[in-house]
Amino acid sequence: MNQSHRRLFLPLLSVLLLTASAVVADSSSTLTRQGAIGGERRLVSPGGVFQLGLFPVANGTKWFLGIWFTVSPPAVVWVANRDRPLDALSSGMVTLSGGGDLVLLYTARDNVTVWSSNSSAAAPAAVAQLHDNGNLVLTSEAGAVVWQSFEHPTNTFISEMRTGRDLRTGAVWSLSSWRDADDPSAGDFRYDMDTSGSPELHIWREGRKTYRTGPWNGVRFSGIPEMTTFEDMFEFRFTDTADEVSYGYRDRVGSPPSRVVLNESGVMQRMVWDRATGAWNTFWSGPRDQCDSYGLCGAFGVCNVVDAIVCSCVHGFQQRAPAEWRMRDASGGCARRTPLRCGDDSDGFYALRGVKLPETHGSSVDAGASLEECGRRCLSNCNCTAYAASDIRGGGAGTGCIQWFVDLMDTRFVDGGQDLFVRLALSDLENTKTKKFPAVIATVITGFALLALLIGFLIWRRIRRSKEATMFDDILRGECPTYHLEVIRAATGGFCPKNEIGRGGFGIVYKGEMPDGQEVAVKKLWTENRVQGLKEFKNEVDLIAKLQHRNLVRLLGCCIHCSERILVYEYMSNKSLDTFIFDPRRRATLSWKKRMDIILGIARGLLYLHQDSRHTMIHRDLKAANVLLDEDMVAKISDFGIAKLFSSIGDSQDSTVTERIVGTYGYMSPEYAMDGLVSFMQDVYSLGVLLLEIVSGRRNQRSFNLIAHA
Ligand SMILES: *[C@@H]1O[C@H](CO)[C@@H](O)[C@H](O)[C@H]1NC(C)=O
Ligand SMILES: *[C@@H]1O[C@H](CO)[C@@H](O)[C@H](O)[C@H]1NC(C)=O
Ligand SMILES: *[C@@H]1O[C@H](CO)[C@@H](O)[C@H](O)[C@H]1NC(C)=O
Ligand SMILES: *[C@@H]1O[C@H](CO)[C@@H](O)[C@H](O)[C@H]1NC(C)=O
Ligand SMILES: *[C@@H]1O[C@H](CO)[C@@H](O)[C@H](O)[C@H]1NC(C)=O
Repeated sequence: MNQSHRRLFLPLLSVLLLTASAVVADSSSTLTRQGAIGGERRLVSPGGVFQLGLFPVANGTKWFLGIWFTVSPPAVVWVANRDRPLDALSSGMVTLSGGGDLVLLYTARDNVTVWSSNSSAAAPAAVAQLHDNGNLVLTSEAGAVVWQSFEHPTNTFISEMRTGRDLRTGAVWSLSSWRDADDPSAGDFRYDMDTSGSPELHIWREGRKTYRTGPWNGVRFSGIPEMTTFEDMFEFRFTDTADEVSYGYRDRVGSPPSRVVLNESGVMQRMVWDRATGAWNTFWSGPRDQCDSYGLCGAFGVCNVVDAIVCSCVHGFQQRAPAEWRMRDASGGCARRTPLRCGDDSDGFYALRGVKLPETHGSSVDAGASLEECGRRCLSNCNCTAYAASDIRGGGAGTGCIQWFVDLMDTRFVDGGQDLFVRLALSDLENTKTKKFPAVIATVITGFALLALLIGFLIWRRIRRSKEATMFDDILRGECPTYHLEVIRAATGGFCPKNEIGRGGFGIVYKGEMPDGQEVAVKKLWTENRVQGLKEFKNEVDLIAKLQHRNLVRLLGCCIHCSERILVYEYMSNKSLDTFIFDPRRRATLSWKKRMDIILGIARGLLYLHQDSRHTMIHRDLKAANVLLDEDMVAKISDFGIAKLFSSIGDSQDSTVTERIVGTYGYMSPEYAMDGLVSFMQDVYSLGVLLLEIVSGRRNQRSFNLIAHA
């Protein structure tokens, strides 16, 4: 084949390989001493699932001996001559050598051996067979296994394969990434099992650890709770015996082909073949987020990916280098507030709940001990820093015992995480434990304090009354129509709990009917904190009375000569957006078109607040509960109690620092939550979160980080 022919041929190669399963139906799955394969000849496993032969990379400039899925030839699962490519399809030949090894010969260069199975077995191999699980097995005349490709993995790990260690022979079954897509030689990343302590899998980059799965807890790896979600497709196997420590999985009967690849970016990707679309779908990949990056928060640090600042110290510890932490470098970790004195009655344990267990290298494991026994042992050993259950099967607190004797590294919060018991001096535990006796004293003292406060308050209120009156007068002079308390009382049935339709940080909302039959929503503000409340009241009334837009809730009036502070809004018969999107049944009634209309409505309302109204302002608490829906499902933004009027700051500035952080967890932009930096972007961020929630129907919260998920 000359050069131009080859160019034509190569792009077609993958297509040809795809159809090859039909063409090579007569191909054999075995190679004997007499046979040889090379060029286009391949081994095909008995059921046709896998093929072994020469495959090209880099536009056919390099050729390798490998095994691939028949359904997807680019999915190469094993490569023989990773470091020594052939330069043409025709220049390679695979045979069983006289010494009983499988060899790849370079025919263009005097049959030099490019690769050899180098089996150390006593008996020579008589036959090589490619099995339907993708394993290439060399067996001797007597039928003994001499060598198998499953024990020499490259970058891929498939059903029935193992990663780990053979403790008798010292063999290591580990993966190493390709250098790049055109070069299967070993790249920067390695994936192997650490068997010192409770076994766990690690990814390494050039001698530096980048990721750990967390130890096996009987069900799954401590740091990968998602594993339980694909148990219907795979059966996980973990072996920890005197002979072998290994982890593997098996496709369940009827499941499509799957593979786990350590890719060139150092990410483990679990992929499953989608027969319908003819593509590999990624089921899981790790590391998943910044908290998975090894040692991000240093010793005794703990990472929480939903927090604005992901790193913090375990309770009882403080930042070792606060200046570095402020620069978002937490790798220096945390130090104990109070040194351990090491006596049974001077130390205790703090329960850190729901975590991926810290690195177990050097830890001690006793699967037979109970968790209580584990705690006693840890307390009696001065070097023990923490303990946890080693096996969570059977629910409850778990059984077995892992004890740590070093600084706790790489702990993070995960969904469905485990409990870790961290040893602390009792004095550091004090404020987390409730003690009965002090509690009684505290109650008595609080009681007296409250009484004194109440008397003080009554006196103060008399003085305050007159001041309040002037403030109310200010409001009166505003643009807000006023109602009499009696009218509102009648409209809401005397603020009857039956008419309550919601409550929030600022008050209770009642449904009411005005004498003219108009339905209204009556918001009665909390009055405990009169000064703060009054400021907010005035703020909201002033702002909303001036704003009119189809996508903003309209303020109809207020009641000010009342003992209560009350706002009257138009009534929204479909309540708030969160009652739709987080309720599976009601969510189903929201078509995509309706959701789109709602999103556009919110965006229009926000644009009006930000740019188009006379008083541009930031809402600062945009969330699903603050978007109301009228009977036509038109979205209206509500709750301006904490909005910040921006016209007073001037047009040139678009951000400012606030002294008081307000807003709702999950909707706050990181720069606002961290530094209190207020800008229009705060609302834009909240809108983004809201958008994801509307589309996915899931709430962004501490236990489920929608943003990372998206
Ligand atoms: C492979 O061939 C294509 C088309 O001829 C070319 O665009 C591409 O750069 C080549 N890639 C390599 C790695 O040579
Ligand atoms: C290489 O080996 C093959 C098969 O054993 C043989 O036919 C061929 O002559 C050899 N080539 C050279 C250059 O030795
Ligand atoms: C096989 O052994 C030879 C000689 O010891 C060595 O050069 C070669 O790298 C080995 N091949 C493999 C695949 O281990
Ligand atoms: C490795 O996997 C991750 C996660 O699936 C993916 O984002 C990345 O692009 C992959 N890298 C390569 C080189 O394929
Ligand atoms: C604690 O650690 C020290 C230093 O590593 C060691 O000498 C000592 O034997 C250990 N104590 C126990 C009880 O393991």
